[in-house]
Amino acid sequence: MNYPLRNPVTLPAAGEARAAFGRSVQAGLGAAPKTLEAKYFYDARGSQLFDAITALEEYYPTRAEAALLRHHAEAIAGFAGDEASLIEFGSGSSVKTRILLDALPALRCYVPIDISGEHLQATAEKLAADYDGLPIVPVHADYTSAFALPAAVPAGGRVGFFPGSTIGNFDPDAAIAFLRQARRLLGAGSRFLVGADLQKDAARLIAAYDDAKGVTAAFNLNLLRRINRELDGDFDLAAFRHEARYDAGRGRIEMHLVSLQDQSVRIAGRRFGFAAGESIHTENSYKYTLESFAALARDGGWRVDAQWRDPDGLFSLHGLVAS
Ligand code: TRP
Repeated sequence: MNYPLRNPVTLPAAGEARAAFGRSVQAGLGAAPKTLEAKYFYDARGSQLFDAITALEEYYPTRAEAALLRHHAEAIAGFAGDEASLIEFGSGSSVKTRILLDALPALRCYVPIDISGEHLQATAEKLAADYDGLPIVPVHADYTSAFALPAAVPAGGRVGFFPGSTIGNFDPDAAIAFLRQARRLLGAGSRFLVGADLQKDAARLIAAYDDAKGVTAAFNLNLLRRINRELDGDFDLAAFRHEARYDAGRGRIEMHLVSLQDQSVRIAGRRFGFAAGESIHTENSYKYTLESFAALARDGGWRVDAQWRDPDGLFSLHGLVAS
């Protein structure tokens, strides 16, 4: 059973979205140090490259989390309870979701939320075909903004699902704001399953974000290609290199694009100067410990009820209860 696509908040039209991208790029490259917003990685090519990243030998988080979900499926199902409604934030292609859906035969409905309407529709149709009798209520929204769930989603038994290490892409303050917002959306008595990558030795982390085949480098550099195409830029992609750094103090991997020479770039007629060695900071990926994540969850309005790790101890899933 498949409900029609819901769009509870009006997402910006293509023209407005491009104007916002332009403003964001002008502001980020005009700042010191220079930055670009990571959400712009995911154009069609960027999404394909990210899928390729998740299949890389060095990129352990996707495999580790899938292993975690399989290994602890029964306990996670127990945490979700009978009569649960599963609400996924940023469902993408819902690969991990299937592991959970298989473990939750009594689910009342599945609510994928995604900013990409096409992705959402395709995923909803495939799941509806494979999970006969499961109501699927797709919600087309930006999950970082305020919106309400459709009335088709029962108020009781709501279980949020936020896998991947996406929470790690928020700075701690933004992660707390997101957790509070999810708490308001899901309501009193709700539960939340949140994935988080764990701190580990720097070499392992850096390899995961700077693979031998250069797929992550291509993914990072694709942002410059997108600026060239959509915002009339003239970045020379060969004049920048991808770099992943680990800041152990903050527990975060940083992604940078480093200028190989003194150069200037034009975007929509405006000039930006780069010194040799100067970097554009494009993304952070925070790594947690079980303790540091529990503290974050508490600040976000949740109590930690359960914590699971994959058999290799690389990745964690947190079972949170609204407090
Ligand atoms: N959420 C993913 C992570 O932090 C995103 C990601 C993986 C990523 N590799 C990347 C983002 C490289 C930017 C560049 O693990």
